[in-house]
Amino acid sequence: MMPYAARRARLLAQMQPGAVAVLGTAPEVLRNGDSDYPYRHDSHFYYLGGFAEPDSFLVLVAARGEHAARSILFCREKNVEREIWEGFRFGPDAAQRECGFDEAYPIGELDARMADILADAPSLYYALGSRLDARVAIWLEAVRARSRSGVTAPQTTHHLLGMLDEMRLLKDAHEVALMARAGAISGQAHARAMRATRPGLFEYEIEAELLHEFRRSGAQFPACPSIVASGANACVLHYSANNRRIVDGDLVLIDAGCELDGYAADITRTYPANGRFSDAQRTLYELVLRAQAAALAAIVPGRPYSAIHDAAVRVLTEGMLDLGLLDAGKVGTLDDAIASRAYAQFYMHGTGHWLGMDVHDVGAYRDVSLPDKPSRALQPGMALTVEPGIYVRPGEGVPERFWDIGIRIEDDVLVTDAGCRILTGDAPKDVAEIEALMRETR
Ligand code: GLY
Ligand code: MN
Ligand code: MN
Repeated sequence: MMPYAARRARLLAQMQPGAVAVLGTAPEVLRNGDSDYPYRHDSHFYYLGGFAEPDSFLVLVAARGEHAARSILFCREKNVEREIWEGFRFGPDAAQRECGFDEAYPIGELDARMADILADAPSLYYALGSRLDARVAIWLEAVRARSRSGVTAPQTTHHLLGMLDEMRLLKDAHEVALMARAGAISGQAHARAMRATRPGLFEYEIEAELLHEFRRSGAQFPACPSIVASGANACVLHYSANNRRIVDGDLVLIDAGCELDGYAADITRTYPANGRFSDAQRTLYELVLRAQAAALAAIVPGRPYSAIHDAAVRVLTEGMLDLGLLDAGKVGTLDDAIASRAYAQFYMHGTGHWLGMDVHDVGAYRDVSLPDKPSRALQPGMALTVEPGIYVRPGEGVPERFWDIGIRIEDDVLVTDAGCRILTGDAPKDVAEIEALMRETR
């Protein structure tokens, strides 16, 4: 059973009776010459429509009186010549049948039909402040032009995306299954990358192992640019060149996940290029691992989202003081160092983000309905990453044995009634597990 009609029904139930919602998918984008960037649908559109072709619009009309709710798709027409060049397209009839819309029409009829659909609708829901604004103005003008015949135009507009963001934040069973599969494929890709790593290879050769595993498993794309950062490159948070030759004694930090059928995974692992952690590397690695364990333990329904970051920061900061990365004589006690954010010299990012169709997924992080806008409470069905790290750039007073070590450990989890379920457990993580895996292939 496909989930899209149920999602449309849930959105329609939140709308004013007789109101209309409209959203389009993402445009195709020219890269250069006659080549486009690989096409990726709009996440909100796909969430409701389950339809992945470009040049598509979805219009939903809420029930009013004896008029039932309607879901209407506008899409490309069948076109024998274009299909010879570009491949299959559904066309309205097949799209309506296969995807369960109540009606479907050629995209070229959108403007004319919107004037009819919006006639006498009390309100319109769409992405306020988007490129749809100008088009909406034209549609509303067309409805108002009929006012002499007694037709009224929508009197109010609502921001559609806020409602969809909140729906997407809580994953349904279909989404959880896809995210678990994306997590498993991505975990296996990380294991493959570890097995393939040798000093002397280039970072991009390891990136190729990730891409191979994603694609052979049916994932369509990397969910975001893959980071393969060896040595000091691991201290560059969004490193993307992936073109350095890996040296014996380096750590390799890989931050990569696939997108499977529209859902992202996002995993980071850090491991020794030669298969064995040095003492300094192991010391910092185990600190980050303990920080991640503390962060994972903070995932309990009802507790605030911010408790996850707070837990990681406390463990990391305590470790920085113990190891002499932070000087208690200068930064004071553990609580002082947390309050002054002294830890940010070595840990300067948050401990995660919502995850779903987008790597940095939609949904508010704060409860804006309360006056001081506190961090929102965790709920079963939320999916997020947990990704503490430590990044030691050379500097005065920084113990030299830790210089240029960058470590991040990132897993994807689903909040459950009991706490959380890890979706990315296939990627080796413990020191012994990583070293054993790498020994096997040497
Ligand atoms: N890969 C991007 C992130 O971890 O947020
Ligand atoms: Mn992440
Ligand atoms: Mn990541």
